[in-house]
Amino acid sequence: MLKVTYLSHSGFMFDDGFHRVLIDPFITGNSNAKHTLEELNADFIALTHAHGDHLGDAISIAKANKSLLITVNELGNHLAEMGLNTHRMHIGGAYNFPFGRLKFTIAHHGSSTADGKYMGEPAGIVLKMGGHTIYHCGDTGLFLDMKLIGEIDKISLMFAPIGDNFTMGIDDAVKAVEFVHPEIAIPMHYNTFPIIKADPYEFKTKVESLRKKCIVMEFGETLEF
Ligand code: NI
Ligand code: MN
Repeated sequence: MLKVTYLSHSGFMFDDGFHRVLIDPFITGNSNAKHTLEELNADFIALTHAHGDHLGDAISIAKANKSLLITVNELGNHLAEMGLNTHRMHIGGAYNFPFGRLKFTIAHHGSSTADGKYMGEPAGIVLKMGGHTIYHCGDTGLFLDMKLIGEIDKISLMFAPIGDNFTMGIDDAVKAVEFVHPEIAIPMHYNTFPIIKADPYEFKTKVESLRKKCIVMEFGETLEF
């Protein structure tokens, strides 16, 4: 069993009844967010990259809950310098955490702090938890190696950015779903800002035309898989 809560943008909370894992919690300054930071009391926070809409509120949540921040090495070094608990990994590496196995995959994007400091490579995340294998693409353009990700692991839930401009748009995201072949595709990274306005139902229709399943999660919604 895995409870998945969509925080909006690229933020998710995963809860298997024993552990809570956040990915890219971005609440402050995000008018689509429905949760308070107090509700996001997770022991583990995994980050795809350092951009403000992904690092988001991770630092304050980690400080309040003594959470372990799971990141690529350079971003982890930066967070550790701030006195936070980190587990530093890198692209292609996986590790068995108390909640399950987490692997960082490639993502084609950038990763720096607001003041321009390089924070290592951006990443996607493959997370095995609660009997599921999820693939959170992070911020990325379409790439052919997504086929490998779907070949190595049978992905049950794939979270794909569809907002265009900074990441894949709808049509490339549909191609990504074709490459990864998940049981269920879920769109993310859209409608937070005017520049990433996209219709998740257009994505759903296009995914379904490939005879694949797509669920559009409401902002703030929790579904059990
Ligand atoms: Ni980004
Ligand atoms: Mn982003």
